[in-house]
Amino acid sequence: MEATIALLPGDGVGPEVIAEAKKVLVAAADVSGGRLRFHEALIGGDAIDRTGTALPDETLEVCRNADAVMLGAVGGPKWDDPSASVRPEQGLLGLRKALALFANLRPVRVHPALASSGPVRAEVVSGLDLLVVRELTGGIYFGERGRRGDPTGEAAFDTLVYSTGEIERIIRRGAEAARGRQSRLTSVDKANVLESSRLWRATADRVVREEFPDVRIEHVLVDAAAMYLIQQPKRFDVMVTGNMFGDILTDEASVLAGSMGLLPSASLGQGRPGLYEPIHGSAPDIAGRGIANPIGMILSAAMLCRYSLDWPAGAERIESAVDRVIADGARTIDIASQGRESIGTADMGDRIAEAVAGEKGTGVSFSRCG
Ligand code: IPM
Ligand code: MG
Repeated sequence: MEATIALLPGDGVGPEVIAEAKKVLVAAADVSGGRLRFHEALIGGDAIDRTGTALPDETLEVCRNADAVMLGAVGGPKWDDPSASVRPEQGLLGLRKALALFANLRPVRVHPALASSGPVRAEVVSGLDLLVVRELTGGIYFGERGRRGDPTGEAAFDTLVYSTGEIERIIRRGAEAARGRQSRLTSVDKANVLESSRLWRATADRVVREEFPDVRIEHVLVDAAAMYLIQQPKRFDVMVTGNMFGDILTDEASVLAGSMGLLPSASLGQGRPGLYEPIHGSAPDIAGRGIANPIGMILSAAMLCRYSLDWPAGAERIESAVDRVIADGARTIDIASQGRESIGTADMGDRIAEAVAGEKGTGVSFSRCG
């Protein structure tokens, strides 16, 4: 196993969690005699400060030449001025678009030891294993936008556009993922209001009927989906949805797992490279303090092994190491129960790396991603 990985630490806690994921990947590669090369590049606010743009050409070049890209986070109060012409988020959106990463896989699993650590009752969340497949390069994030005159002053608009082709390919990804699981696909839309959702729904039905007769599809309106996620999340197997609905619902779903800091993601296109990032943001409030939870980033690295390196054994090794370290009681502050001791980012990374190095054969892994 030999691979080149682009590292884009970005802003806020990004560099802190990237360092731990790299440590864990190296430990996994060492065990199996693999060789990983890492190339670091700028993105987000950090890139704006140094080059004036959120996604320098050089970064794109480094990513295109890599087998996979790991990204920490972008954004922060320093670059939040709404009138600024360059924004850190442009770097991330630009990268997803440039690499045509239209399918964002966000698995949500609840570690047994953490089932009662969040605000939702343990019996509602325990055993939850949900995969959200979020469309990532279309919809309202990328539609025409602008300002225009208005009698009251000014109006601003963003446009939500989805084409048949864009819908077909994301539904296929969702249905393929469902096939490897319980073969149940929930498509989330707002078809009672939005025309784009009506095309989405009709297209989803057709693709599944013609190409995935073994997959059962249901449609749920996004407002109801938000409610069911809290009320009875286990009714879902694979959820497929558009860009903005997926963004919102996955933050909500992360609460079920115990913390945003736990959730990984993989952004995939047709080929190389895939992009791997935790679903959490740059968390400027805790950046630089060494307390961020690196597990979302580390589990993203596991997804990288599975989807970009075709190395499922590496993925399982990392995932079961995470499981064991959590089972042994290691907690960063976001998942520590009140009054209990917590450990820092690097300590958590060290423990997981050690567990990876010491890991013998792997059995069933609990936090298996994707
Ligand atoms: C995410 C983030 C991004 C998004 C932001 C940082 C642009 O919230 O990956 O979920 O909205 O896609
Ligand atoms: Mg988000």
